[in-house]
Amino acid sequence: MPADDTLDRVRAFRWSGDALELLDQRALPGRVRWLRCEDAPAVARGIRDMVVRGAPAIGIAAAFAVVLAARRHGNDAGSIAADLALLREARPTAVNLGWALDRMRGVLATGAGAQRLLAEAEAIAAEDLAANRRMAKLGADALQPGVRVLTICNTGSLATAGLGTALGVIREAHRRGWLEAVYACETRPANQGARLTLWELSRDGIPASLIVDSAAAALMASGRVDWVITGADRITANGDVINKIGTYALALAAHVHGVRTMVVAPSSSLDPDTATGSQVVIEERPPGEIQAGLERAWNPVFDCTPVALVDCIVTERGCLVEPARTGLAGLSRGAAN
Ligand code: MRU
Repeated sequence: MPADDTLDRVRAFRWSGDALELLDQRALPGRVRWLRCEDAPAVARGIRDMVVRGAPAIGIAAAFAVVLAARRHGNDAGSIAADLALLREARPTAVNLGWALDRMRGVLATGAGAQRLLAEAEAIAAEDLAANRRMAKLGADALQPGVRVLTICNTGSLATAGLGTALGVIREAHRRGWLEAVYACETRPANQGARLTLWELSRDGIPASLIVDSAAAALMASGRVDWVITGADRITANGDVINKIGTYALALAAHVHGVRTMVVAPSSSLDPDTATGSQVVIEERPPGEIQAGLERAWNPVFDCTPVALVDCIVTERGCLVEPARTGLAGLSRGAAN
């Protein structure tokens, strides 16, 4: 069995000492291209344009952007606040972005300089990786040898500080020799499954089968899936799960076909201040992302899966079975411990 700290090889960002470099996920898998961001507005553009994406990864990128803002603006609190606002608005749905910015703002409020801010951004990234390592084990413990898994979007190293959330569980199941099959939805419109998840898994030697999104229910009906395993961009106080568009349809089909649904997300994705998923602003992106030149479309990029359809929620703090029955009490936002 390989050591569990060598389970993944890819990183979504790197700190160069004076800039944040983002692996341009729009160009993958065809080209490995790094985009150098020297100020916070450049990072905000990278988040908005999905150079970097995935709930934890955008929070971490924003944290490093605050370091860039402090370096550029010094004691000019107004300019730093403007950069923070730009970052916060870059993508509205994933709660990790605001969570990371609030943490950085707390450090700023103490009057700390760029060096202390850098330490905080690095801590946010390190804690995310630690949380993923813990969740990978907790989630895999709920599986069984010979397990067959269906996943959506990209929840791997590219979406986090490393290893991934749902993909971390899948990697750990593979490490244990338990993974019989993994199916990845292509995940229209940006094809994070087809482009990113397949790329990551192939680099790790995990054979995955791609399906078009509309094949998911038929795949489940054919008896070839035991678990749907997804990440989350936000989990509201009642346990509703906001995640990539199509997650709700997977959970519905799973429910009908006796397939179980696992949601894997760090506690920084919990949103105890929002009662239910119906209150969350779902990001709608331009029609051109569905098809070039298209002028009219409805393009929500996330949806809400009601907690009643979720069999378990895994955070670094534990695995909650039947969260609709047990509630989320006991789980709180914050760092891995
Ligand atoms: O639009 P994206 O690619 O940022 O969406 C990402 C997802 O929906 C992921 O499933 C979610 O962020 C969890 S990833 C750790």
